[in-house]
Amino acid sequence: MKRYAFILGILLLAACGRTGEGAYELDAAYTYLGADFPLEPPLDYSSTAPDYITRDNRLDGDVDNRKATLGRVLFYDKQLSLNNSIACGSCHIQAHAFGDSSQQSVGLDGGLTSRQSMRLVNTRFAALPAMFWDRRAINLRNQVTQPIEDHIEMGFSGMGDQPGLDSLLAKLQGLQYYSELFDWAFEREGTTINKQRIAQALEHFVSSIESFDSRFDEGYAAAGDIQGSYSNFTPAENRGKFLFRAPPQLDNQNVRTSGGAGCAGCHRPPEFDIDPMSGNNGVDKEAGNPAGFDTTNTRSPSLRDIFGPDGSVNTPMMHTGNFLEFTTIVEHYNEVIPDVNNRTVDGRLVRGLTSVKLELTSTERADLEAFIRTLTGSNMYSDERWSTPF
Ligand code: HEC
Ligand code: HEC
Repeated sequence: MKRYAFILGILLLAACGRTGEGAYELDAAYTYLGADFPLEPPLDYSSTAPDYITRDNRLDGDVDNRKATLGRVLFYDKQLSLNNSIACGSCHIQAHAFGDSSQQSVGLDGGLTSRQSMRLVNTRFAALPAMFWDRRAINLRNQVTQPIEDHIEMGFSGMGDQPGLDSLLAKLQGLQYYSELFDWAFEREGTTINKQRIAQALEHFVSSIESFDSRFDEGYAAAGDIQGSYSNFTPAENRGKFLFRAPPQLDNQNVRTSGGAGCAGCHRPPEFDIDPMSGNNGVDKEAGNPAGFDTTNTRSPSLRDIFGPDGSVNTPMMHTGNFLEFTTIVEHYNEVIPDVNNRTVDGRLVRGLTSVKLELTSTERADLEAFIRTLTGSNMYSDERWSTPF
């Protein structure tokens, strides 16, 4: 008897989700998003990060399903740009690990971004909370509204002839589906649309994007650590893992005599997040402007999902976006040769005025690449939770 009452209750709840007494009015949202869009109940955005993932910069615990769902709509809605032509998802593309395959991305009216559009993979699972290549946003919640207020990206900058964010808030307030969705996502605390709420919803969404189903994860889970050989790896992948992980032993000319390439010192497994103490890595030009000089870029996205499941690189790499293949990355680190005016390269790469010379053989270079390829997952590229609702 009890069980039937329970099932009946569930059915009633499900029905009320759409129209019934005490439920949310989501009619305009369903009209906008399509009747099949999962609002009641929303999709489950809880993290499934494995136990060995311990770094986490989220401000307040778990991702909330409704806020993330609202964030998903905002992320893909071109209404968030001045001329309704650009969404976050225009530059952060699911098929490219939420980065862009162009060196610089196209914003409003053909304007180009000043740096490469970073992949948004495991953004939350990093010790460093600061965002952007140059760390200028203090954390993700602070970051997510900046593209909306950027004059090139989405255009509500309040500069020149562009209106400010208030104009966007009024625009969204005028859209009935957003009144409904904001009320729903913020537990009936009203239909208000403000910067704080937009930031929260986008932050819940972006920080839910995760990738932990790579062959590396399989190997790590079985072995329990990064050391030793993984039984699911080829010999080349295991050698590459050693090279990535082990620091180089150097002679007094800074030439490697044994050891590895020392990548893990800055891109720290198993998250592959950037060491918060990392200095610049000698990539000191501006994107699209080789004559420009810029040493402020000391953040890197996680090195997971550099390659896509089809084996090609997801995005051009580094803030300049001019590293198109992984071979050029290895060539760069083999001997970092900075601009003559760049005296701030991290001491792990240039000591005093002398570059560390890794002298990697062609086999070692191939091994490193083979290892990086084991860091690619598959679910993230197709999971409905992060795909466009439009
Ligand atoms: C026109 C292209 C474009 C649009 C639109 C855009 N971004 Fe970005 N995004 C970029 C670029 C370029 C960077 C790197 C900029 C830099 O470091 O100076 C970036 C960086 C980021 C980062 C930092 C990641 C990290 O690891 O530090 C996050 C998070 C992000 N974007 C989220 C968003 C969100 C949310 C939106 C929508 C509100 C959005 N982006 C819209 C191009 C874009
Ligand atoms: C001293 C710290 C340091 C070391 C050591 C280091 N890196 Fe980096 N790495 C960085 C920084 C900082 C960036 C971002 C630089 C930029 O874009 O200007 C970066 C960026 C990258 C990128 C581009 C990521 C992207 O999303 O575009 C790759 C790939 C990479 N590193 C691979 C490696 C490999 C492989 C090694 C070892 C051979 C290595 N790194 C060693 C600090 C380091």
